[in-house]
Amino acid sequence: MAQILQPTPLHLDQLAGFLTNGGIVAIPTETVYGLAGNALDPEAIARIYAAKGRPSRNPLIVHVGSLQQLDEIALINETGRKLAEKFWPGPLTLIFPKKPIVPDAVTAGLDSVAVRIPSHPVFRELAARCSFPLAAPSANPSGYVSPTRAEHVLAQMGDSIQWILDGGPSNGGIESTILSLVDPQNPVLLRQGCIPQNELEKVLGCNIVTREDVAEDSRGGLLSPGLLKRHYSPRTRVRVFEGKAPHFKQNEAIVFLNSARCKAENHFSFSADGSLEAVARHLYDRLQSLDQKGLKRIYLELPPAAGIGLAIRDRMQRAAARD
Ligand code: TXA
Ligand code: MG
Repeated sequence: MAQILQPTPLHLDQLAGFLTNGGIVAIPTETVYGLAGNALDPEAIARIYAAKGRPSRNPLIVHVGSLQQLDEIALINETGRKLAEKFWPGPLTLIFPKKPIVPDAVTAGLDSVAVRIPSHPVFRELAARCSFPLAAPSANPSGYVSPTRAEHVLAQMGDSIQWILDGGPSNGGIESTILSLVDPQNPVLLRQGCIPQNELEKVLGCNIVTREDVAEDSRGGLLSPGLLKRHYSPRTRVRVFEGKAPHFKQNEAIVFLNSARCKAENHFSFSADGSLEAVARHLYDRLQSLDQKGLKRIYLELPPAAGIGLAIRDRMQRAAARD
């Protein structure tokens, strides 16, 4: 059974040593917890895929502590530097052409690599002790809800890993935004996330096409190997709604955006005031705790389709998809 470790200097040194020797460790980031291993060590990468039960065609994000470290693994372009200056460290993942040092296992054989510099202070302390970049998918079994607390990782992955580094509850609560800059003239948004699309567009001074736009001209499959329709899903059946609350039966629950709408025992909320940042922060925690109750169905209220609401809607709709 895995153990949760507090981020003391001694534990951080021990975990850095464990990672250096090819071990894998669940680590906090500002978005969700990740399952990290040395990105340059194919054996560590194989352990990550095995622990998650992740299909080998779904590539991993590589996390680094500094831009210098990034130069060793990716060909960063001017557009990337502009976004990095504004959003890193932070919840933005950029995709660049990869350098040969990155093993094929990390990128699922693609010529590109996904990278980000997380802002979580505990991640940064660990990264500073590692001379290599850390590949890390979210620390959940493939397809299940992502973890935003060390306890979520323990409950879902406790049998398949040894160590979980505790960094407290993740502040962002949903995954990073993923933008492909493989062609810097034509950035493509592959995943909505903590940083809203319109903020990226403001910095770039142009519109960004989304994966769905590209999928229409039939290149989508190649661009986004890991974006399955059903994902981020609890075991309990999920339905989404907007506006009027659905009629619900016994053994079902409704989760509203705002606690003001809670009127009955099986009513829950994502936040006290309905602020979308708070909804994102609490979304996965709420889903995982309701998933323990043996309910027949959970109804989720969708937020408006603007700003970070787009990313929250995406996660709710995937949680509700049946296949
Ligand atoms: O917030 C996050 O991004 C979290 C934390 C731990 O950093 N990580 C995360 O990783 O969400 P994961 O593995 O659950 O999702 C990574 C996504 C997958 O959909 C994968 O297909 C995509 O990134 N991806 C990775 N490398 C790619 C590449 N070279 N080209 C296109 N998509 C890529
Ligand atoms: Mg994931």
